[in-house]
Amino acid sequence: MALVSAAEMLTKAKAGKYAVGQFNINNLEWTKSILLTAEELKSPVILGVSEGAGKYMCGYKTIVGMVNGMLEELNITVPVALHLDHGSYEGAKACIAAGFSSVMFDGSHYPIEENVEKTKELVAECKAKGLSIEAEVGSIGGEEDGVIGAGECADPEECKMVADLGVTMLAAGIGNIHGKYPENWAGLSFETLDAIQAKTGDMPLVLHGGTGIPADMIKKAISLGVAKINVNTECQLAFQEATRKYIEEGKDLQGKGFDPRKLLAPGAEAIKATVKEKMELFGSVGKA
Ligand code: 13P
Repeated sequence: MALVSAAEMLTKAKAGKYAVGQFNINNLEWTKSILLTAEELKSPVILGVSEGAGKYMCGYKTIVGMVNGMLEELNITVPVALHLDHGSYEGAKACIAAGFSSVMFDGSHYPIEENVEKTKELVAECKAKGLSIEAEVGSIGGEEDGVIGAGECADPEECKMVADLGVTMLAAGIGNIHGKYPENWAGLSFETLDAIQAKTGDMPLVLHGGTGIPADMIKKAISLGVAKINVNTECQLAFQEATRKYIEEGKDLQGKGFDPRKLLAPGAEAIKATVKEKMELFGSVGKA
């Protein structure tokens, strides 16, 4: 199946009270693991690409080529969207041109008027091309240079204003952050989420920072309108841990030289296990 926009899968998820996972990709093994797991579990899936990962993987065109090739060669039949994560205005334009099926424009750091202007323009471009588009209100904190910033809570009125611009899905800060949560994290603000959903109605809401949120909070967030959950750090940690263990056990030293395919295999399996666990928690298994 060719890449699809995330619109239909998220409308279905919101109506069916489950969430579709966005799993960020960093290389070929990562992408293959996520696609194979989605196919095995008959789950829709969104592949997220940050601008940094885009540069690492030799640019957006390379990624589009790799993903399209895998969809065909691996006979993937479940719906897959290829989505720019936290895109700049320029990044979103570049991904639209390169063949992504979905983009996020993160204008949360602009004054709301400028966020609205730029979002409007990108919404029109995505609509014309049949792509889905995610906007963000209320910045999502996280760890940068060892400093952990608190996640903001978005203003429900601002959320409504941005939702009304015609975006496909809306990321709203509800105290969530990227990376690991600190010991003293206050948890998600369900009061804010409830107020946002009341203002934005059927709009699928997006929960960033899916790593480390307790299962009961994830379930409650889904019951209050979250239809897409982003996961990145947890796959990174699983990959790193499996690779470290493999090296420590000395399994790569077989007297035949150093085979990168063998070295990366445990990490790829660890990603499959993480993605499976998340798809089961989010309720997307069997929903393709
Ligand atoms: P984590 O890295 O915390 O899982 O968050 C991922 C994310 O929100 C990507 O946009």
